[in-house]
Amino acid sequence: MTDNCPIITVDGPSGSGKGTISQLLATDLGFHYLDSGALYRLLALAAQRHKVLFDNVAGLSVLAAHMDITFEMNPEGGQPTVFLESEDVSTAIRNEDIGESASIVAAIPEVREALLQRQQAFARKPGLVADGRDMGTVVFADAELKIFLTASPDTRAKRRHKQLIGKGESDSLAALIDWVKQRDARDGSRSVSPLRPADDALLLDSTSLSIAEVFAQLRQEVKDRLSI
Ligand code: DC
Repeated sequence: MTDNCPIITVDGPSGSGKGTISQLLATDLGFHYLDSGALYRLLALAAQRHKVLFDNVAGLSVLAAHMDITFEMNPEGGQPTVFLESEDVSTAIRNEDIGESASIVAAIPEVREALLQRQQAFARKPGLVADGRDMGTVVFADAELKIFLTASPDTRAKRRHKQLIGKGESDSLAALIDWVKQRDARDGSRSVSPLRPADDALLLDSTSLSIAEVFAQLRQEVKDRLSI
């Protein structure tokens, strides 16, 4: 707890539903919300725009520490609006190429170090819900409540497939299952902050649960553990 600022961490692989659940919890509790994946995505986009190559570790670290970014919470919930150098890049950071690049820059220890304090600065009263891969293990290791949300690779690929169809884009389900497995392997095997549950995390498998069911379980957990 930082100055009476309770922190809830939600870690897990892509497609586990952690983003949606974290946003719902933050809105319900009136807490701030950190989408840490967006920071890695913003860095990938900033690097592309400023022509900083991925093997330029010093350049990437400086960019990570100093890039001009702003997150604007949406009062009705949902993803925050994200600005890079005052430009709304909320859509630009969500494309597949940027996701791939984010996964590459996220494997560089110096980049993770440069983003550490920026992430920790999101902890402000009345509280924070932090969503990512290493929120409970590294960035907020003292968090009051740590959740690790997962789902089978097939289920996560199907969710992604549905999302893409909704956006008018498509990719074969088989290709998406491969992609999910590749991304898991990269995020889970890197030497620094690999994706893994904190020892004291509550594990929840959402494979056969709806968002509403996951939310209800976690909301109850927050009530039991934090009395809010
Ligand atoms: O959750 P996402 O897809 O927006 O994350 C983009 C990439 O950033 C993903 O490959 C994992 C990485 N990431 C990370 O390494 N640590 C975090 N705390 C959040 C995301």
